[in-house]
Amino acid sequence: MAIRWKESYSCNIEAIDNQHKKLFEIGDELYTIVTLDDGLDHYDEINSILQKLKDYAIHHFNYEEELMGKYNYSELDEHRKQHDRFVNKVIELEHKDFDEDQKAISLKMVMFIADWIEKHILGTDFKYKEFFDKKGIN
Ligand SMILES: [Fe+2]
Ligand SMILES: [Fe+2]
Repeated sequence: MAIRWKESYSCNIEAIDNQHKKLFEIGDELYTIVTLDDGLDHYDEINSILQKLKDYAIHHFNYEEELMGKYNYSELDEHRKQHDRFVNKVIELEHKDFDEDQKAISLKMVMFIADWIEKHILGTDFKYKEFFDKKGIN
């Protein structure tokens, strides 16, 4: 398993695709840590990936929400709720003391990101594809 973006994941908006690709990169970075069996401490790396994930989420979600708001997309509220849940989950992980449990938390985050890609990016985000297509946004 590797977390790789593919063309079929495109939502036809270049800036958003680039932001989504970033999440795949973060997921893949974490996955690499999960599969390492070097017995070394990866606390600082995991911590910095978590920060990256939080910054990513805030920036990307704002971008999507602003665009949806600008064009009066009717499903913005429900969409925003899912974004908020993601950010809250990352904050929850951030406050966990995972030093003794580095592999477990990394694996949990990988699963969380993979699930998000499948359900949110390829589900909820994909729903605005046609809407923005018709508005000529790309
Ligand atoms: Fe998105
Ligand atoms: Fe979204």
